[in-house]
Amino acid sequence: MQAVGAALAEVARPGDVIALSGDLGAGKSTLARSILAALGFAGEVPSPTFALILPYDPPEVRIPVIHADFYRLDGAMELDELGLDAGDPALLIAEWPERVGGLAGPDTLELRIEGTAASERAVIARAGANWQARWQQIAGGVT
Ligand SMILES: Nc1ncnc2c1ncn2[C@@H]1O[C@H](COP(=O)(O)OP(=O)(O)OP(=O)(O)O)[C@@H](O)[C@H]1O
Ligand SMILES: [Mg+2]
Repeated sequence: MQAVGAALAEVARPGDVIALSGDLGAGKSTLARSILAALGFAGEVPSPTFALILPYDPPEVRIPVIHADFYRLDGAMELDELGLDAGDPALLIAEWPERVGGLAGPDTLELRIEGTAASERAVIARAGANWQARWQQIAGGVT
């Protein structure tokens, strides 16, 4: 997961969305942490389960990042009510995107983390148009 996170950090751009699905404890926050670490963030990355949205800004990170966890939303709140705008000049890393109706789009990389073994995980990707080439490059380099 650290290798995937580092590879994602290398190619992620402001305006991108990385949508992380998977069961409780699948490793969504773990992957978000590894992306943030690879973007240069040296501090603790708490789970945004209760804050819903935690921003990270330069110079602590190479590009602005918003780490979100929509688990508690249950479709009750719209993204714009959270102050989240599709045109935000940040990388949005969102756990539980299905709780807000999904975040599919050209700038979105949807990743589903699966696995029941103690440490083994599989990542299934659906890449939006602007992620196709980048994800192919990552998937070819990480096993
Ligand atoms: N290969 C792996 N990738 C990710 N996490 C792993 C892996 N192997 C073991 N783990 C462990 O699985 C747990 C994943 O927890 P994490 O908080 O990342 O899940 P989550 O998907 O964010 O859950 P939640 O839905 O509660 O937010 C951690 O304790 C982590 O150490
Ligand atoms: Mg989490």
